[in-house]
Amino acid sequence: MKRPVIIALDFSSTDAVEEFLTKMPNKPLFLKVGMELFYNTGASLIHRLKENGHRIFLDLKLHDIPNTVQQGMKALARLNVDIVNVHAAGGSEMMKRAVEGLDAGTPAGIDRPKLIAVTQLTSTSELVMQQELRIHGTLKEAVQAYAKLAKTSGLEGVVSSPLEVPFIHEACGEKFLTVTPGIRLAGDAVGDQKRVTTPTDARKLGSWGIVVGRSITASCDPTKAYEKVIAEWEEQS
Ligand code: C5P
Repeated sequence: MKRPVIIALDFSSTDAVEEFLTKMPNKPLFLKVGMELFYNTGASLIHRLKENGHRIFLDLKLHDIPNTVQQGMKALARLNVDIVNVHAAGGSEMMKRAVEGLDAGTPAGIDRPKLIAVTQLTSTSELVMQQELRIHGTLKEAVQAYAKLAKTSGLEGVVSSPLEVPFIHEACGEKFLTVTPGIRLAGDAVGDQKRVTTPTDARKLGSWGIVVGRSITASCDPTKAYEKVIAEWEEQS
């Protein structure tokens, strides 16, 4: 799989997605469908996007007892999506069973979705992690430990901030995939994100794939913004 630019479809309806896609280049894209969109539209939108040739990161962040996650993943694998995810905080048994569920549910003749884990949400500060989640040590140590757990559980990678990529690679090797949100084109509003980088910096930090939402979806010219992101990501600037 080519190192992707994944567009976050943070919309609540099929109509809003279709309206956005009319403003984008008429070619297959890599799209992230999260809870808001999936819970509003269900599998029908996924089928439609796949029929139109798009690739999908289904960002539902499963976290439950191992058997429930295994059965949930078995169902998601039937949607023929390209990437799915879990919370590493669910533990190694849950993550291994997630892989088993995907293996069991993937239809013959297609690749099973890649499975990646959330280590610590980028909205969680070190203080909140220590005082509320009761995880001792630094954020860096927690992210490295969860990334290692994901790797030994058979997952292909993690979701992280681009700024965390170097020490995830240090713990898990360069081939371990890092999918990184928190991307902004220079000059764009940061919004609620805490630690953002440009596509160029994410590339330099070693991200495998970037997730870009509002820098593209809230732009007055989404195609131009997308092309700018691609140019930075593919080192044309
Ligand atoms: O608009 P923006 O580029 O900030 O969107 C980022 C996308 O990545 C959103 O869909 C957000 O839910 C998702 N995400 C994130 N941080 C994480 C995991 C997912 O921003 N740790």
